[in-house]
Formats: sequence, structure tokens, C-alpha cells
Amino acid sequence: MKLAALFSALVLGVATFSIQAAEPVIIKFSHVVAPDTPKGRAAEYFKKLAEERSKGRVKVEVYPNSQLYKDREEIEALQIGAVQMLAPSLAKFGPLGVRSFELFDLPYIFPNKETLYRVMDGDIGRKLFSLLDAKGITGLGFWDNGFKQMSANKPLRSVEDFKGLKLRIQSSKVLEAQMKALGANPQVMAFSEVYSALQQGVVDGTENPLSNLYTQKMHEVQKHLTISDHGYLGYAVIVNKKFWDDLPADLRATLDTAMQETTVFERKIAQEENDEALAKVKAAGTTHVYVLPFKDRVVWQKALLPVHKAFEEKIGRDLIQATYLTAAEVVKEKATKAIAPVKKDKPGPVKATKPAKT
Ligand code: LMR
Repeated sequence: MKLAALFSALVLGVATFSIQAAEPVIIKFSHVVAPDTPKGRAAEYFKKLAEERSKGRVKVEVYPNSQLYKDREEIEALQIGAVQMLAPSLAKFGPLGVRSFELFDLPYIFPNKETLYRVMDGDIGRKLFSLLDAKGITGLGFWDNGFKQMSANKPLRSVEDFKGLKLRIQSSKVLEAQMKALGANPQVMAFSEVYSALQQGVVDGTENPLSNLYTQKMHEVQKHLTISDHGYLGYAVIVNKKFWDDLPADLRATLDTAMQETTVFERKIAQEENDEALAKVKAAGTTHVYVLPFKDRVVWQKALLPVHKAFEEKIGRDLIQATYLTAAEVVKEKATKAIAPVKKDKPGPVKATKPAKT
């Protein structure tokens, strides 16, 4: 009798143990944008790769559109372990006390995407991620969205057009200074509240890459859009540090590789999503699209440049200088390529072509 009881306890114990061992690790991935945006699609792509590659040891639950948390709350939720993964915009790390991320918000600092990727993937990106350690956060990768465009219910062509406008911004001191430098009145607001704030006239306008503007239907409540590319919006994919460090090493490596591959995918689709969004905004016919001519872009740039100087101390002079140097390197490389002598191919045999039908 005793033996039988011991046996069934053992069997039960083994059964419970194997159920526990089979329980997948849950990664709650919360974000604030629509599923059909660069970030939304990449979150789903990561889910697919992570679940497949880990052979079910991981389950990724993606919560888009601020379903779980709004901008500021989501970072707090990550720190207390209520969610495990996020991809906040780089403009949203200031309230956490890591102001150097606002480097990415400096107007016109990235002349092209090559410069941006070198900054993200090089020493500057590594330095920024190292600042997150003390906050209980680990950075896994930088995702792209695109350059931001200005919108309002009046045309925004010259700097004077901004005077007195109430413009929604993300929670970044650099963006606040940027709008002030243009003579506008910046209002910090969570992304999920922007559409109704524009609709009700709480704010007059905003800035965002086109994929965000279109998927939030902002074009329905903004009569004018200026393609100004005056600033940049991208993301840092982050995880709760303790959660990440406690994962078995092999699983962490699998997820790391899945994240690297997702980052390649994400950067590839970002521009496509923004190009498509522009076509859709034009087709909707509710918003007049104006492309800021180069001569005016120079004037905007001049008005906004003092913002770089004003934030040297908060962001770090070294980081800003290193970004300028990277930009200069890229420009030089492009120029060298452009003037490199074109190798002339030796004339090959002339291929016979079919005579055209008459
Ligand atoms: C915004 O708040 O405008 C953006 O950060 C939203 C996002 O995550 O792209």
C-alpha cells in the first residue's frame, strides 16, 4: 500500500515536472502603433522567428495600438516586469533619465540613412545601450521608421507659418526646443491621443513619419502636409534586464539571432511603408501635400541649428561631434564613389539578335 502511494506520488511528481518544463516563456511585447507599420510588422516578424526557432519554448504576445499601455506607462511596465519587450521611439527615453537618446531628435542631424545606421550600429549606439543597464533595461537593437514630416490645417512653408501654432510632440526636450525655435507652442501628448486632439482642435498640428500619420488617420484631420524630412524617428527594442539575464543562455542566443534578423527585415520595409503611406495620403485627397524646396529647407535648417548647440551638454558633445563626423565620412565616400573612373568593359562578341517581325 505504502509502495503504491509512493509510486503514484512519484508518477504525479514527474508528470507535474514535465508540464512545468514544457511551459513556454512568455514575452509580452507592447507597442503604441498600428500593426501595419514598420514597427508593427517587425514585432509580428520577431514573434514568428522567435517561436519557430525556439521550437515553442518561447511564446511572444504582441499588443499593438497602446492596447496595454500608453507611451510613458509602457516603460514603467517594462521596468516592473509587467511586460518583457518594447520598442519605444528614441524620443521617449528622456523621462527615464537617459537624455543622450535625444541625439536622434536633433533636427536635420542625419543627412541620410547610411549615417543613421552607422550611428545606431557603431560606438554611439553601444554607448547609448550601456546607459540603460542602470535602469534595469537591456537594449537589443535599433529599428528604423523614417524622417518626420510636418502637418497642420494651414500650409507650413516658411518658418513664419509656425508662429503661435500648438503642435503635438513626443516627450523630448529637444523636440520642445525644435518647435519653439520655429515659433510654435509644443504640447507633449501620448501617441494614442493625437488623432482626437487634432480632430477637436486641442492641437493644430504635429510631426511624424508618414506611416504613422496614415495608419492613425491623421490625414483625415490635417489639411496640409509638408514633406520636410526635418527630423528622424526610430526605435530602440528593449527588454527587462533581469528577465533577459535569467533566460537559459541557449535560448537567449536564439532570441538574439531572431532579433538581428528582424532588424534587417524592419529596416528594409521602413522606407517602403512610408512610400506607400504617402501614396495613400495623396489618394485619400483630404490633405494637400507640399514638398519643401531645397532653398527653403536651408532656411528651416538655419533656424533649427541653434538647438544642436543648446543640447550639447545634455546629450553629450562627444556624441554630437561623432555623429557629425560620421555624416561627413558618408558624404565623402559617396563623393569618391561618384567621381571614381568607370571601368570600361572590353567590347565583347556581338550577340546575334532575332530580326524584328515585319
Ligand atoms: C509618436 O509618439 O509619435 C511615435 O513615437 C509613435 C511610434 O512609436 O512610432
